[in-house]
Amino acid sequence: MGASAQHEVAAKSFDIAWVRAQFPSLELQVNGRPAAFLDGPAGTQVPRQVMDAVQKYFLEANANTYGAFLTSRRTNQVISDARAAMADFFNCGSEEVVFGQNMTTITFDLSRAIARELEAGDEILLTTLDHDANFSPWAALAEKGVVIRKVDIHESDCTLDLDDLKSKLSSKTKLVAVGYASNIVGTINPVAEITRLAHAAGAMIYIDAVHYAPHGPIDVKALDCDFLVCSPYKFFGPHMGTLYGKKPLLERFKPYKVRPATDTVPECWETGTQVQELIAGIQAAVEYLAELGRRSDSSAKTRRAALLAAYRSTVAYERTLAAQLIEGLLALPGLRFFGITDAQRFHERCSTVSFRLKKGTPTELAAFLGDRGIFTWDGNFYALNFTERMGVELLGGVLRVGLVHYNTAAEVDRLLAALAEFLAA
Ligand SMILES: Cc1ncc(COP(=O)(O)O)c(C=O)c1O
Repeated sequence: MGASAQHEVAAKSFDIAWVRAQFPSLELQVNGRPAAFLDGPAGTQVPRQVMDAVQKYFLEANANTYGAFLTSRRTNQVISDARAAMADFFNCGSEEVVFGQNMTTITFDLSRAIARELEAGDEILLTTLDHDANFSPWAALAEKGVVIRKVDIHESDCTLDLDDLKSKLSSKTKLVAVGYASNIVGTINPVAEITRLAHAAGAMIYIDAVHYAPHGPIDVKALDCDFLVCSPYKFFGPHMGTLYGKKPLLERFKPYKVRPATDTVPECWETGTQVQELIAGIQAAVEYLAELGRRSDSSAKTRRAALLAAYRSTVAYERTLAAQLIEGLLALPGLRFFGITDAQRFHERCSTVSFRLKKGTPTELAAFLGDRGIFTWDGNFYALNFTERMGVELLGGVLRVGLVHYNTAAEVDRLLAALAEFLAA
């Protein structure tokens, strides 16, 4: 059986009824119609397991860390269990997992710490495709005389221009910051290859996997990346961020911290008291994905194997939804599509899709859809370099539809029908 036939079989056997039953908020009604949550790229809904874990923390473990009493010990355990869960998620050691407020804050913190070792004339390579949270924290180091260089994109399919990347990489490059997948057009970047190129030039690599995390498995060992960051609220967990850092690098760079706080990795990177109840929720989000994986592959023995099985099933399912959506969109008259449309190249994209209609602004369209219970986003989603580069920043950006594995073919049909209605009105 070929890869696409295997995908079709996997997508057909995907237990969407079980998935949706795990997410109570999907029951929401808007003006008498069921809500269609096509807003996942800005944050996904959470399964009941996550809500229960947060509540359980408050009921049974609510205290600060490292005290000599029950609830404090339980809090330590909650954090260490969540670290182990994220270590399985990233495929790294627990001591390489850092929790933080969100990806943006983590990136500002790390960029300032790395800047302690940078000198005027050192270079950092950024991209036109990235969310600004993987741009501005690094670009701010220009204050120290660090030279910021920016990799361009191919306009036709919204992929990174690797020739441009290679031409801008040199022995002066100290760090390459790149996204795993674009939060505006869904392009999946060849991060393994970019990591090899960065390392060959003697540079470190910082990968923003915030958008990729709900759509595909992460393996920091296989990538050999130095840092990788993502936000659990984008993969069915609570509003937080998490960082993977190679242990020697977490030990080498020095975080800004208060004196009594530990110097031990990874806690020394976690400034102040953490949102412990949400850390409990992160573990539950990883467990939810593992449970999904065990349902599709009962032979998965470890949590990591179960996570990989989960992604095998969701990737296949999301790809069929994306194909249905993109085919339907391209049939609409005058639609401007941003990104890869060729089904043969769908392994280079995830199920996040952006476009403009010939009529109305993205904001007007989002409001029209919102009134019909269809949740989408309009604007630039902080992918500011991209909307400027494509000439749509001053035109209200784009309309973004994000499909995750709890979405359905019926929701895609509803969206396409509503778009046709908008055009006809
Ligand atoms: C690709 C990408 N990177 C970074 C961020 C910022 O993440 P956070 O909200 O955790 O700071 C986002 C948020 O939308 C994103 O989509």
